[in-house]
Amino acid sequence: MHLHSLLIVFLLSFACGQDRRITPVLNPGCENCSTTLVYIKADGSQDTVHQLWDFTRGAPTIIYLITKQSTPLNISWVDELPDKFVLPEKPVYSFAASIDKLQEYNDIENNGHIDNKSPQRELPLRHVWWRRGEHQLSGKEAMLHMRGHFEERRQRGVLDMKLDLLPFKDYAVDLPHLIHTANSTLVDISLVNLTSSEDYNASRFAIHFLMVSTDDRSDSMTYSMRKSLDDEHTPGVFEIFEIKTPKSSRSDDGGFLQFRPVCYTEPERSVSSSTNAYITNFTRTSLPYAGTLRDFYRTFDGNNLLVQDMYISFGLPGDGFYRQHNYTSWSFTIGYGVPPVESFSLFVIIIISIGLGVPVLLALSGITYVLVRRCKQRNPPERFTDDE
Ligand SMILES: *[C@@H]1O[C@H](CO)[C@@H](O)[C@H](O)[C@H]1NC(C)=O
Ligand SMILES: *[C@@H]1O[C@H](CO)[C@@H](O)[C@H](O)[C@H]1NC(C)=O
Ligand SMILES: *[C@@H]1O[C@H](CO)[C@@H](O)[C@H](O)[C@H]1NC(C)=O
Ligand SMILES: *[C@@H]1O[C@H](CO)[C@@H](O)[C@H](O)[C@H]1NC(C)=O
Ligand SMILES: *[C@@H]1O[C@H](CO)[C@@H](O)[C@H](O)[C@H]1NC(C)=O
Ligand SMILES: *[C@@H]1O[C@H](CO)[C@@H](O)[C@H](O)[C@H]1NC(C)=O
Ligand SMILES: *[C@@H]1O[C@H](CO)[C@@H](O)[C@H](O)[C@H]1NC(C)=O
Repeated sequence: MHLHSLLIVFLLSFACGQDRRITPVLNPGCENCSTTLVYIKADGSQDTVHQLWDFTRGAPTIIYLITKQSTPLNISWVDELPDKFVLPEKPVYSFAASIDKLQEYNDIENNGHIDNKSPQRELPLRHVWWRRGEHQLSGKEAMLHMRGHFEERRQRGVLDMKLDLLPFKDYAVDLPHLIHTANSTLVDISLVNLTSSEDYNASRFAIHFLMVSTDDRSDSMTYSMRKSLDDEHTPGVFEIFEIKTPKSSRSDDGGFLQFRPVCYTEPERSVSSSTNAYITNFTRTSLPYAGTLRDFYRTFDGNNLLVQDMYISFGLPGDGFYRQHNYTSWSFTIGYGVPPVESFSLFVIIIISIGLGVPVLLALSGITYVLVRRCKQRNPPERFTDDE
């Protein structure tokens, strides 16, 4: 009996083989803190990827740190806030993304995306108060659901974020079914029931990203658009956007963000509730004066730290602006290494094989038939020759 179940467990773990062993911890070193910092150590066969999902200072921040295998990271705390991050040796690479503010813009020209001409107002997230929701922190999955409220009375609404890391490659359950691997985290973000400025009659909201990487400060992040071969996982959407850190563009071991240019205007994501997501160009900037990014990169060499920012904005001309639905949700993945590429499913492979196979078979059998007939004519069976 025991042997039986052992065998099953062995077969299962073989079948859904883990690419990394993940160990997630909530607030390491400050177990009773009401703030939220999830630390995930993901040990691979050659290196260790450390991830921090930080909500302690309002702005959601995801930091990646790549080190030699099994290097420990120590975090010290002051007043429920992480203060120092200590590694026994220099890390191999690090990159981070932080959503430090929302940008409300009055889209007077109704073109959907944010540009410099439209009036804008900042909604910094440093005073957003995050409440921890459903979460699962185990060796099988690291998942965290956070819900944020603005502290100001004036600004109502909810920011919803869900982060998910699995120790193997998988497609996200929800549209646009992004791929996440043991090296990348899936992030869903929703802007729900936000109140807009009274003096704006065409409000939309954009997300402002700060991106950091340990590359030369004069270098630059790049983004590119790739067309996928089929839209099986995301009906109607063939494009995939990839933001790469300089190291990722040069070799295959940098950081990346991956997303599809779609977002959704209803909690039930569907093709009919999808609309466009736009990315702006990068601008060079510096680390914020305070916050987890500043604390984390304090000990790093400033000449070897690239900080850039960009916006993601949502909508299409004539869609009635944010107030039409008072809801926008969007997903991306952030990870280390080569951005994953979608593969054809078995179903598509069978369809393609039938589609290509049948004509090829027909052609082959036709050719064979003709060849056989030619041969027969050239060397007529001896029996008949004898008879003549
Ligand atoms: C956390 O709180 C529990 C119960 O309130 C207490 O037993 C435990 O000692 C606390 N742990 C720390 C590290 O303060
Ligand atoms: C990390 O913390 C552990 C226990 O708290 C301690 O033994 C270890 O020396 C610390 N490591 C570093 C690099 O500070
Ligand atoms: C994750 O990164 C490691 C290198 O650190 C690489 O060997 C592995 O193939 C990557 N896994 C996936 C699924 O991308
Ligand atoms: C947003 O507003 C709608 C309509 O008033 C309400 O049904 C929904 O529960 C609200 N959502 C959140 C997250 O507060
Ligand atoms: C917003 O107000 C401006 C000027 O007051 C007006 O020109 C524009 O048509 C209005 N836009 C919408 C969508 O109501
Ligand atoms: C973004 O950069 C490209 C090429 O550098 C340029 O052609 C384009 O006008 C820029 N877009 C904006 C909105 O600045
Ligand atoms: C969205 O919220 C605004 C007030 O903030 C309200 O006037 C509008 O009717 C809401 N739209 C929907 C679809 O609930």
